[in-house]
Formats: sequence, structure tokens, C-alpha cells
Amino acid sequence: MTTRRAKISGAGFYVPERVVTNQELEALMDTTDEWIQQRSGIKERRYVSPGETPADLGQHACERALQSAGLDPQDVDMILLATLSAQHEFPGTSFFVQRRLGLEDTPCMDLRAQCTGFLYALTTANSLVRAGQYDRVLVVGCEVHSTGIDLTTEGRDVAVLFGDGAGAVVVEANEDDSDPGEIIECRLHAQGEHAKRLWIEFPSSAHQPTRIDQEAVLAKKHFPRMEGRFVFKHAVTRMPEVLQQTLSSASLKMEDVDLFLFHQANLRINEYVAGQLGIPPEKCFSNIERYGNCSAGSIPILLAEASERGLVGPGSLVCMTGFGSGFSWGSAVVRL
Ligand code: UT7
Repeated sequence: MTTRRAKISGAGFYVPERVVTNQELEALMDTTDEWIQQRSGIKERRYVSPGETPADLGQHACERALQSAGLDPQDVDMILLATLSAQHEFPGTSFFVQRRLGLEDTPCMDLRAQCTGFLYALTTANSLVRAGQYDRVLVVGCEVHSTGIDLTTEGRDVAVLFGDGAGAVVVEANEDDSDPGEIIECRLHAQGEHAKRLWIEFPSSAHQPTRIDQEAVLAKKHFPRMEGRFVFKHAVTRMPEVLQQTLSSASLKMEDVDLFLFHQANLRINEYVAGQLGIPPEKCFSNIERYGNCSAGSIPILLAEASERGLVGPGSLVCMTGFGSGFSWGSAVVRL
């Protein structure tokens, strides 16, 4: 009897062409290339050019993911897009991507779980496909941070970390017993208690009489605020915890995994996590030095780049783990 599973059948990514180096940021705020590299591992990131939108990034990433799966946009049953930097308050960015892909009535929705957004969306797609609701779901992580950060000394702790980019995967039904491709196990967590430790307060529909006012803008409350050290400490605790939980639920061992992909928030966080778990550096792939933190885009960009470089391929066992605002965190182990 064939068992219906869901697998990742293709991955693609797109980052804007405009490279912004640490030296360029030095000209905008009181920071140094040395500080940024030492604390985060980042050397440069990408920013959109004038006129370039989140939907542009999402569209290109989706087209590349579909191409790598050997599919056309018309083959897609649903688009799930994770973002914390939506193109508009509403409707979601996924609706603009759908239009760009030339699709007329394919269902789509945005999912908000910040830097863990891609793992939340992957988990949702896995369930939808396994249950038989859909055969092929496009899962996208897409961020344009550069238009929403405070590029002055006041905002430097957050601003130097973020970059723009999008990654996408195709989650497809697999009923072929000879094909090992499968999203094996996903684990998600959240802790709203810490929602304000890393957040953007405005615009807020909880604020009356209007969602944003001059006072909020003058106080720069429309920019992200982060308690960096607090977030760091939680990330290095929660990521190993959920990674071990995920592998153990799947009866897999750390040594079984071919490649670990960690959310690209800070190279130091990931080195610490890998060190704690005894994961050798050659089993981790990073691109934070080139792209910075692309939040929901980071993990799918990493996966797509790893497969483009031949670091993983059909049959590889990949473990993806992330942590971010919410707090939210999660892990997924997949056989490609
Ligand atoms: O993706 C979502 C999840 N996000 C994360 O996981 C990020 C977690 N946090 C971090 O990665 C780190 O906390 C940071 C990289 C953000 C900061 O590193 P840190 O070692 O925790 O530095 P800090 O915030 O304790 O700041 C140390 C000093 C401060 O100066 P004083 O008070 O010691 O004089 C900051 O004002 O560094 C200063 N600082 C900077 N200096 C130069 C903060 N940002 C910068 C900067 N350039 N960009």
C-alpha cells in the first residue's frame, strides 16, 4: 500500500542585486566593519533598488523553485508566504506574488511567525499535502527589511543585521514508495510572553484613534526594537532544544543528518548551537556573511543555495532550525 507523504521537490531563491557592505553602513551610522563582523559574522547584505518590491523578490524565488521542481505556476494548488515585512497592511504579499505568477484564482495566504515563519509555513504545507487537500503548495519566505530599519546610530543594533531576500520551495505529494523524499518531522513553539522583546510597535490597530501618529513616528516606534542579549540567550537555548526534540521524534540521530541549516540571525548564535550539539562545521552551511538576516527568507534561501552548490541533493537528510520574534522557534527534518 502506498503512503501519501509530502516532500520538497524544488527550491529557489532570489536576492536583490544591490550589495550593501559594512563600510557603506559606516558612512550612515556610528558602527564599524569590525564590530559587525565580530558580533554577527555579516560582511554585506542586499537591499532592494528603487521600485523593487517584496512581490518581485517572491516572484523570482517562486519561479526558480518551480523550475527546479520541473513545474509551471499553473501546477500550483496554493501559495503560502511567510513574512514580517508585508508589502501592504492588507492584502498579503502572497496575493501580489500570485498575480505576478500569472495565476488567476489559486488560493494564497500570508503567514506571520517572523524569523520562524518559513518553518511554520512548511509545517502547514506538509499537513495540507499529507491530508490530501492539495498536491502542490508553494512555500515562500520573503522579506524587504531595508525600507523598514533605522539606518542611523540609534537603530544600529538592528539595522546592521538585516537584509532583503526571498526563498521558496515546492511541497509536493509523494506517493511513490521508491522515492524517499519526505518532510519527516516538524516541531514548532512560541512564547508570546516575550512578544515585545523584538517587535515593531507601530502602526498598531490597538492604538487609538489612529494606528500611527506623528508622536510615534518622531519616537521612531515604527522601526524594530530588540533586546539583543535577551534574544541571543533564548535563541541559543531554544534552538538546540527543538532540534533534538525533532530528531528524536523522528528516531534520527545527529550523525544521520547530512546538512544543518540554521536561521541566519547571527553567526555567533549558530556557532554556539553547533558547538553545544557537537555538530562539525562542515555539516553547517551559512550565507549570513553575504546576505545578513533575511528573517522568513533566510532558511529557504539557505536551502536553495545549498542545493545549487551541490551540498545537498536527492536523498540528503536536512535539518532546518530557526528562532525569532514572538518568540517563535521550530525545526524540521526532511529527506530531499
Ligand atoms: O532574527 C531574529 C533573532 N535575532 C537575533 O537572534 C539577534 C540576537 N542578538 C544578537 O545577535 C546580538 O545581541 C547583537 C548582534 C544584536 C548585539 O551583540 P551584543 O554582543 O549582544 O551587543 P550589545 O547589544 O550588548 O551591545 C554592546 C555594545 C553597546 O555599547 P556599550 O553599551 O557597551 O557602550 C552597543 O551600544 O555595542 C554597541 N552597539 C554597536 N556598536 C557598533 C550596538 N550595535 C552596534 C553597532 N555598531 N551596530
